[in-house]
Amino acid sequence: MSVELKKMNAIVQKEYGSAPEDVLRISQVAQATIGDDDVLVRVVSASVDRGTWHMMSGLQYPIRLGIGLRRPKALNPGRSFAGEIERVGVNVTDFKPGDEVFGTCDGAFAEFARAKTRRIAPKPSNLSFDQSAAVPVSAVTALQALRDKARLQSGQSVLIVGASGGVGTFAIQIAKSLGAVVTGVCSTAKVDLVSRLGADHVIDYSLQNFASDTRRYDVILDIGGVSRLSVLRHVLAPHGKLVTIGGESSARWIWPTAGRQVRSLFISPFVGQKLLSILASENSEDLSVLRDLIEAGSVAPAIDRSFSLDETAAAIRYVHEGCARGKVIVSV
Ligand SMILES: NC(=O)c1ccc[n+]([C@@H]2O[C@H](COP(=O)([O-])OP(=O)(O)OC[C@H]3O[C@@H](n4cnc5c(N)ncnc54)[C@H](OP(=O)(O)O)[C@@H]3O)[C@@H](O)[C@H]2O)c1
Repeated sequence: MSVELKKMNAIVQKEYGSAPEDVLRISQVAQATIGDDDVLVRVVSASVDRGTWHMMSGLQYPIRLGIGLRRPKALNPGRSFAGEIERVGVNVTDFKPGDEVFGTCDGAFAEFARAKTRRIAPKPSNLSFDQSAAVPVSAVTALQALRDKARLQSGQSVLIVGASGGVGTFAIQIAKSLGAVVTGVCSTAKVDLVSRLGADHVIDYSLQNFASDTRRYDVILDIGGVSRLSVLRHVLAPHGKLVTIGGESSARWIWPTAGRQVRSLFISPFVGQKLLSILASENSEDLSVLRDLIEAGSVAPAIDRSFSLDETAAAIRYVHEGCARGKVIVSV
C-alpha cells in the first residue's frame, strides 16, 4: 500500500541562475521526510541574506562543490528560519512538537522544512517569528567574527565597514554589548540606521574616506569587501586584528576577497597585525548566546521589510541590489 505524502507550498529551484524571477517558482510539493536525528519544522518566517543569492546562482562556482555541481541539491536557497516544531525523529530528545525554534536548514522558503537539531535553538521569547528569522546566519557571523576571530575586548575600538547590512547591523550591537567603541561605515541613506543601532561614530563612505581619518582601530570587520588591504592595514593599530567577512563582485571563479586572503596569509606572519578571515558556522550554542543577548535587550534585529512566500524572488532581488537596511524577511 503506498502512503501519500502531505503536500506543501514551497519555492522550488530546479537550476542555477542569477535572475531570481527566472529560477524560483512557487509550487505544491511533497513535505520533507525526516531522519531519526532531525525535526520537521513548520516554517513561519525565513530571511534573505547575500548568501541566498549565491546559493541560487551557484556563484562563485567553487561553492557548487558543496551545494550541487550541475543543479542545486536543496529545494530552494532559504536557510535562516523561525517556526514551530511539527514532528521529531525517534532519537530527538531536546525538542518536541509545538516548540518555537529558530536556526538554519536547507530549503527554508517553504511551509515545512527538515532541520538538524544541532543547527536550531529555542526562539527568543521577546521576538516575533519574523524578527527571529533574521538572526541565524547574519548574527552568528557577526558574533563569531567579533568574539572568536577578533577576540574583541571591552574598551577596544572597532571599525565596521559595511555596518548597515545584515551582518553589520548585528555586529554594531554585539560589539557594543562587549564594551567596544564602535565606528560604522555605510552609505548616506543608512547613516541614521547605523547611528540608531548604537554606533559611537558613523562614516558616510560617499562623503568621507575612512582612511583619511587619524583614528587607528584595534579591530576592523570588513563586510563591504571593497577596500584595499593596504588601506585597511593603514587604519589598523600596530597589533590590531582585521577580520575579512565578505564582499561582492561579478567574478565567477574566485570570490571577491580571495586575492586579499592569499596576500594576508603571506603578510600576516611578518607583521604585528593579525589579518584574518572567517567562514561562519551556525550552531545551537551560538544561537543560544544570541538569544540571551536578545532577551537581555542588548541586541535586536533591524528589519527593513517583509515579503510573502510568493514574493521570495523580489525579496532576493531587493537584497542583491543593495537596497536593504538591515534584514529582509519572507513571511511564510
Ligand atoms: N564569511 C562568512 O562566513 C559570511 C557570512 C555571511 C555573509 N558573508 C558575506 O558578507 C557580505 C555582507 O553580507 P550581508 O548579508 O551583511 O550583506 P548586505 O546586507 O547586503 O550588506 C552589505 C554591506 O556592505 C556595505 N557596502 C556596500 N558597498 C560598500 C562600500 N563601497 N564601502 C563600504 N561598505 C559598503 C553595505 O553598505 P550600504 O548598503 O550602506 O552601501 C552594507 O552595509 C556578503 O558578501 C556575504 O556574502 C560572509
